[in-house]
Amino acid sequence: MNELNGTTALVTGANRGIGKAFVLALLQAGAAKIYAAARNPETLDALLAEHGGRVLPITLDITDREQVATVAGQLTDLELLINNAGIAHFDGLLAPKNPDAARAEMETNYFGLLNMVQAFAPVLGANGGGAMVNLASIVSHVSFPALGSYSASKAAAHSLTQAIRGELRAQGTHVLGVYPGPVDTDMGAAVKMEKTPPAVVAKAVLDALETGEEDVYPDPTAQHLHQSLLADAKAVERETAQMLPAA
Ligand SMILES: NC(=O)c1ccc[n+]([C@@H]2O[C@H](COP(=O)([O-])OP(=O)(O)OC[C@H]3O[C@@H](n4cnc5c(N)ncnc54)[C@H](OP(=O)(O)O)[C@@H]3O)[C@@H](O)[C@H]2O)c1
Repeated sequence: MNELNGTTALVTGANRGIGKAFVLALLQAGAAKIYAAARNPETLDALLAEHGGRVLPITLDITDREQVATVAGQLTDLELLINNAGIAHFDGLLAPKNPDAARAEMETNYFGLLNMVQAFAPVLGANGGGAMVNLASIVSHVSFPALGSYSASKAAAHSLTQAIRGELRAQGTHVLGVYPGPVDTDMGAAVKMEKTPPAVVAKAVLDALETGEEDVYPDPTAQHLHQSLLADAKAVERETAQMLPAA
């Protein structure tokens, strides 16, 4: 996708964090129409009050397969799908505070993503191919024990992204995987590391779409870890293995 100007896009989890930054960046890039999806449409009110017109609200919980299919049937003009919605429980695998955390993360970060991909692939295909962006994480590539179940769900999202890129090639849909480090959002609040502003992530993703890249590492932490993984993946694993869940 080398032209964002005039495109029609859908952003999941558009009410806050990186999703909201995507909406603002798409407006800036000249998108004709942006479907801003949120579980609770009232959480979009402030965004719509300021940027209504080209931004249209959509009620969407990505874990609800029927709702996803219904919305896909309505947004017949979609050309760019940004799968941004996600959750993180920030806990380990052995003794999580919430025993349902790992399942919930898989349900949203993997199965929710799969719902979206399956429902919207035909829409993108009917509109000439277009593009799909999947928000994975740098922890897709190396697990952090302090967020072990989240890491596993994002590794699954990365694997899905690779496989679907192959399946969608024939219909001309470009698939972009995004692998950020810590980002300054509600989700990132628990992380005590340097954080990148969400607008930087959104801009890097839109730039990568225009240049046709398949993977984007949008911040210094992600770029550093990516390079380190290429150089010596086992050494990085040994390092991150020391980042244990809080007792
Ligand atoms: N922040 C980071 O450090 C970081 C780093 C790497 C990757 N990421 C990934 O980037 C994406 C955005 O993260 P963020 O930092 O912006 O997180 P955030 O501030 O916590 O926002 C998450 C968004 O996802 C939505 N969401 C959660 N579950 C959903 C569901 N079942 N259906 C629809 N929407 C749902 C939330 O909606 P509600 O308002 O209704 O809860 C919210 O809009 C996520 O996929 C995350 O895993 C984040």
